[in-house]
Amino acid sequence: MHGRPSGPEATPAERVPTGVHNAVDYERLAPRHLEPGRLAYIAGGCGWDQTVAANRAAFEHWAVLPRLLRDVRRGHVRLHLAGQPLEHPFLLAPVAHQRLAHPDAEIATARAAEATGTCLVASTLSSAPLEAIAQAAGSGPRWFQLYLQPERAHTLDLLSRAEAAGFSAIVLTLDASIQLASRSALAAGFVLPPECTAANLVEYAPSAPAPLGPGDSRIFQGAMRHAPTWDDLQWLLAATRLPVWIKGVLHPEDARQLQAAGAAGLIVSNHGGRSLDGAPASLAMLPAVRTAVGADYPLLLDGGVRSGLDAFKALALGADAVLIGRLQMYALAAAGALGVAHMLQLLVEELQACMAQAGCATLADIGAEALVPALPFTGAPFPPC
Ligand SMILES: Cc1cc2nc3c(=O)[nH]c(=O)nc-3n(C[C@H](O)[C@H](O)[C@H](O)COP(=O)(O)O)c2cc1C
Repeated sequence: MHGRPSGPEATPAERVPTGVHNAVDYERLAPRHLEPGRLAYIAGGCGWDQTVAANRAAFEHWAVLPRLLRDVRRGHVRLHLAGQPLEHPFLLAPVAHQRLAHPDAEIATARAAEATGTCLVASTLSSAPLEAIAQAAGSGPRWFQLYLQPERAHTLDLLSRAEAAGFSAIVLTLDASIQLASRSALAAGFVLPPECTAANLVEYAPSAPAPLGPGDSRIFQGAMRHAPTWDDLQWLLAATRLPVWIKGVLHPEDARQLQAAGAAGLIVSNHGGRSLDGAPASLAMLPAVRTAVGADYPLLLDGGVRSGLDAFKALALGADAVLIGRLQMYALAAAGALGVAHMLQLLVEELQACMAQAGCATLADIGAEALVPALPFTGAPFPPC
């Protein structure tokens, strides 16, 4: 880290850093604002980071085909997501422990979401309590990301707190019951600092887990003991009046079953490569998931989105909107709420520029026909449109 301490005692400059011209510049500059252990924890995936790399590489497989002479002067990037009006299709993904990046943590990201007219998804493992995040989000839309707690009474309490605080949807994350450590974070000696408590959970002391029996697996009977099942999903759907989105979907058959079970929408995601190293890129699975759930079902994507161009490709392949994970933390570390709002604004302009050149005036105009494979030229004739 250069220039200033990174703990909560730091007072980061609330101005846009020089040299940020594109949203991804916040990633490039992150080593200036985050000490190496924190950066390794945020940037890393799990294991050997194969899925982190796959998430990025998937976007490089596609190129956008420009169109000429189309009038886009009435263009905009507004949308309705499950009835909710949003100014643009970049949501803030649930990212735990934001105090690692900035003392204002989720209070800052909530302000940025409101300022740019988008939806914040607050993590169960946020550094600030969900009530304070809701207050900071003001009149802006906010969803609460839920990890089912080992005790249902604690999950019920979280749900009723989220409902009371004005969160308008629950995002149930299902792909992180077990997460292998990031090798880069381990190598950097990262441990969660004491100020990074999960503020929402301090009241819920879980009962001590029963010891494993002889021959029991640390995985199946240990880590997976409280992993959610289809029964838990049915229980949750009956336990809340809020719409429930499911995050962490990659398999088209899971998507179909979740839709049939009553999920309000799905998030195609591999947890930013932090759950199963070797899982496919989210973008690679998106077309099959869209086919499985049909054209009109709400579908989001995250994983590897670093630019408006990436978002364009995701929308062309079937997403209604995308969520931004790591870029949010890098912008937060660099310049607090202002940085996150600036990063979102850059993404919006990048998307608009791409849409304008592809002849798309609205998000509804973006379709698969706007993309061609970005493969090396083979001499084969281009397929007729
Ligand atoms: C540091 C960090 C913490 C995260 N915490 C959560 C979390 O608490 N809940 C959750 O559902 N996803 C969590 N995620 C995953 C993100 O919501 C999102 O799926 C992922 O970051 C998207 O990929 P991207 O970082 O390439 O944009 C976390 C990701 C990171 C990098």
